[in-house]
Amino acid sequence: MKKVFKLLTMGFVAIMLVFVLAACNSSSSGKGGAISVGIVLPTKDEPRWVQDEERFKAELDDSEYTTEILFSQGSSAKEKENVETLISKGIEVLIIAPHDGAAAGATVEAAKKEGITVIAYDRLITDTDAVDYYVTFDSVAVGEAQGQYLIDNASGSGVPLYLYTGAASDNNAFLFFEGAWNVLQPKIADGTFVIANSSEAEALKDKPELTRDEMNAILSQVTTNWDPSESKNKAETHLTAVSDDLKGDVAILAPNDGTSRAIADVFSTESAITSFVITGQDAEKASIQYIIDGKQTMTVFKDVRTLVKDAMGMAIEVLEGNTPETTGSYNNGAVDVKAKQTDVIVVNKENVESELIESSYYEADEFTGLE
Ligand code: GAL
Repeated sequence: MKKVFKLLTMGFVAIMLVFVLAACNSSSSGKGGAISVGIVLPTKDEPRWVQDEERFKAELDDSEYTTEILFSQGSSAKEKENVETLISKGIEVLIIAPHDGAAAGATVEAAKKEGITVIAYDRLITDTDAVDYYVTFDSVAVGEAQGQYLIDNASGSGVPLYLYTGAASDNNAFLFFEGAWNVLQPKIADGTFVIANSSEAEALKDKPELTRDEMNAILSQVTTNWDPSESKNKAETHLTAVSDDLKGDVAILAPNDGTSRAIADVFSTESAITSFVITGQDAEKASIQYIIDGKQTMTVFKDVRTLVKDAMGMAIEVLEGNTPETTGSYNNGAVDVKAKQTDVIVVNKENVESELIESSYYEADEFTGLE
């Protein structure tokens, strides 16, 4: 009897724990009842996606529609579970930024079967016809802006160029790299830059357009997997492997802010590096401080407020029985997905105040050393 009670107690505690954990990873807003719009974001561990959560909450504050936001914590299994939870709560629209763009296919197919409209958010879901819409930034332009910044700030020729990319499971990583390659390749071919850390990229330096397989080969050498500690390890390994003629004044293509700060920290402690220009993306607060302090050179600001507005605007159109407006389309390997796309802005020390403070994206008192 005692044992049964103990088991029951343990069961109760476990169930409560599940509820508490679930509550920690989700947030709902709106006016009671069933959930109309489910939102699934890839991870809480990267400030980029916490920004999106905050901006969604601000946008939804006085919405008449009920929404719930769930995080997948970098796991496709958890993501599938999240979508199933939201399906069981009766959602009519799913807004989802997948952890892994291909693995999410089966997950959204399950939603589609229930008549739910699927909106891919920031990251495309590939190789499935179960995606109705895609709201995104111009990701090729992100990479082009990063590459162009390195070109504009390089002096002379033979500048060592260190390449880093996002995760191969994220379609955006290819779009960012494609954009960077569009502008950097001619400057590698003409000798302005010398690739320091990728024999695969070096072998392809005369090719203006790369296939997905060719990009994959480069990514397999220089991916960060969007992970700052993997970025740090790779940067250390690269600096140990190269000779001094690939040090001095260098250029670094870092795909986003989290990886940029980690790589910058490594390069700034290497005595044979005399200066470096390093890119970033997302305008994360920590990187804005790095830019003010001169530790990161630039970031590509993607105004998440616009993306959130577009995604929710689309969801509401669908809920009201209308067809959302789109501006173009993206082929996801199976179909052309109708898309709404937003521009990006290059931010460095010179325009950080006008772009981020004066636009009320951040408050001045969140930073130190602003002039
Ligand atoms: C990309 C996203 C970026 C970046 C990265 C890592 O898909 O567009 O803003 O943060 O993922 O999460």
